[in-house]
Amino acid sequence: MNKNKIDVKIETKKGSMDEWPEPIVRVQSLAESNLSSLPDRYIKPASLRPTTTEDAPAAANIPIIDLEGLFSEEGLSDDVIMARISEACRGWGFFQVVNHGVKPELMDAARENWREFFHLPVNAKETYSNSPRTYEGYGSRLGVEKGASLDWSDYYFLHLLPHHLKDFNKWPSFPPTIREVIDEYGEELVKLSGRIMRVLSTNLGLKEDQFQEAFGGENIGACLRVNYYPKCPRPELALGLSPHSDPGGMTILLPDDQVFGLQVRKDDTWITVKPHPHAFIVNIGDQIQILSNSTYKSVEHRVIVNSDKERVSLAFFYNPKSDIPIQPLQELVSTHNPPLYPPMTFDQYRLFIRTQGPQGKSHVESHISPR
Ligand code: OGA
Ligand code: NI
Repeated sequence: MNKNKIDVKIETKKGSMDEWPEPIVRVQSLAESNLSSLPDRYIKPASLRPTTTEDAPAAANIPIIDLEGLFSEEGLSDDVIMARISEACRGWGFFQVVNHGVKPELMDAARENWREFFHLPVNAKETYSNSPRTYEGYGSRLGVEKGASLDWSDYYFLHLLPHHLKDFNKWPSFPPTIREVIDEYGEELVKLSGRIMRVLSTNLGLKEDQFQEAFGGENIGACLRVNYYPKCPRPELALGLSPHSDPGGMTILLPDDQVFGLQVRKDDTWITVKPHPHAFIVNIGDQIQILSNSTYKSVEHRVIVNSDKERVSLAFFYNPKSDIPIQPLQELVSTHNPPLYPPMTFDQYRLFIRTQGPQGKSHVESHISPR
């Protein structure tokens, strides 16, 4: 799909963005109703069903990178760590970080407050029910296509930045500590993201703050999607989250500490990520792939579910200011290496995932400049 076609889609979908195309069913309700079989809407076609790669002997894992000492007074000083991050961004598009500076107690508190929230009865959460116009609040699907195949998860989506979009009234108020914890967690992750952005920029031979400037400096966006994957009666037929690449700049994921689920595409196989205790999983999103003119890769990933354990994850998205055009940085393009993508704002770009739902890497690939 080229840019013009996307613009057409925006026009034609405008009228339908205030509500979902059909009544919303909470996956939590299905999971709690002791189903003996999986409802058809959640059964994936055979080609998309999870295969059990996690049993493969010595399966690869994404790189685990220790950030200890990287952010010193003298700047980014450790060439070995810098090189490992560079390699991870070019190859895997994913890496885990430890000694990242966020307190383990805060990480656990954030996850466990959300777990308590999701354990509320479904009707207590309906007051926060979201719509496809903003996606803010409690939701159970991505995309507005009627009859689309659905994923085995509920979620909560909220804005942390810019300040005018941060609205405590749209955040849950139970458990009583949740707002305060999310607020502190958000601030810490904004700081960590700013530091990682400096690394990504420096690693391309750019000024340390060049990526940040391209994202709008102080005016970046940040949001949180908390994913709740209930137990699934037939996990081999379903997915918790279908294959997608993240549309934003960079994602910092706090996975469940007990339950695997995230799988990352490596060539033609799906690698199950084994989270390191109190690590974050960092991945490049489409906007950084675009800025870097595809030197850094926004890699497809998905989530598998299981029949005996629920899973909670917190995906923090660090995004460009939503109304500035994002395109490959001038310093990274030349006549031999022409820009692969035309300029597009993040507001325009994310409408794709908001209307179509998760669709692999089709968006960033179709956004390649015609030549
Ligand atoms: C996401 C995502 C992975 C997970 O929310 O975009 O990829 O492990 N989540 O929940
Ligand atoms: Ni994702």
